[in-house]
Amino acid sequence: MYVPANVFTNDDLTKYMDTSDEWIQERTGIKERRFANRFGETTTTMGVEAAKIAIERAGITPQDIDFIIFATLSPDYYFPGCGVLVQRAMKMKEIGALDVRNQCSGFVYALSVGDQFIRSGTYKNILVIGSEKHSFAMDFNTRSRNVSVIFGDGAGAVVLQPTEDANRGILSTHLHSDGDNAEILALFNPGTHANYWKEGLADYDNAEIGELFESHAMIEKGQNHATMDGPAVFKKAIVKFPEVVMEALDKNGYSPADIKLLIPHQANLRISQFVQQQLKLRDDQVVNNIQKYGNTTAASIPLALCEAWQEGKVKEGDLICLAAFGSGFTWASALLKW
Ligand code: ACO
Repeated sequence: MYVPANVFTNDDLTKYMDTSDEWIQERTGIKERRFANRFGETTTTMGVEAAKIAIERAGITPQDIDFIIFATLSPDYYFPGCGVLVQRAMKMKEIGALDVRNQCSGFVYALSVGDQFIRSGTYKNILVIGSEKHSFAMDFNTRSRNVSVIFGDGAGAVVLQPTEDANRGILSTHLHSDGDNAEILALFNPGTHANYWKEGLADYDNAEIGELFESHAMIEKGQNHATMDGPAVFKKAIVKFPEVVMEALDKNGYSPADIKLLIPHQANLRISQFVQQQLKLRDDQVVNNIQKYGNTTAASIPLALCEAWQEGKVKEGDLICLAAFGSGFTWASALLKW
């Protein structure tokens, strides 16, 4: 894992918007988050820092990596993706690089794609990264306070390798989506939607051709920031999180009591607590570190996994469940025998 050095507390946010430490902690559990160095760090460079550690711990070198999967919703460039920037920065061979755009569930989706390549025998050392630099794009005005207090920056990475032991590794992954709610948690602009799916998402300048991707009106009206219907996200998340965890357990003949650790996407502490309650899990079975880092979206699961591992909570043979829910909506789980 890699997190930027700059700690931004809830009190720091009150300098920019009408909010309070009490409100943020009560609704989300978040105490502080990290913000990347504005011009010195990018989503890719943070991912590279996490990748260096993962590669070293795997006992290999960057030249041994034979495929890169990079999950993010805050890429350095609109295109190309961050995967190729990792390939360049780490001086890797001319291997394949894939970017996954699945927001909060991006890391579990990326892991699932990597798992298929490992199972098929196509690749032997796959680098999977989740990284976000939310601080660069968020609106820190009061109008967006329901969104911008939640998110933080950081990165996590893993190296996937094959094993001969059928009872270890990724047992199964489970991926889902429901596009009916695509506009509930989204960043619409810049984009090519032209208000086709929903009226009023963007105001456009008068141009006969082109120049519609971004407009002056969008910027003036603040239409280039993420928007969220928080209560609607909450309602769906607390149903789909436990459902997708149970799907993974049922598939492999386990029950919630068998889980050593549930590592949920760190969306909101209240969501995690609700899921814990639903599944009747003890406190020591659920990893929560949103208090320190906020919601780091595609990075949150590898970040929490890494911290749990560093604290000695993840041991060989442990049953670990990763689960995520987010924008799209998309949701996913992975069951692992460490
Ligand atoms: N500080 C102070 N007041 C605020 C803030 C803030 N940061 N944000 C919103 N409010 C105010 C609103 O203006 C509103 O005031 P009003 O009643 O006078 O109009 C009031 O608080 C309630 O607003 P809601 O948006 O209904 O806030 P809610 O109580 O639902 O809490 C929250 C918002 C925390 C986002 C909640 O809806 C939630 O937890 N939703 C789940 C979504 C989530 O966690 N998303 C994370 C990212 S998505 C993901 O990772 C899955």
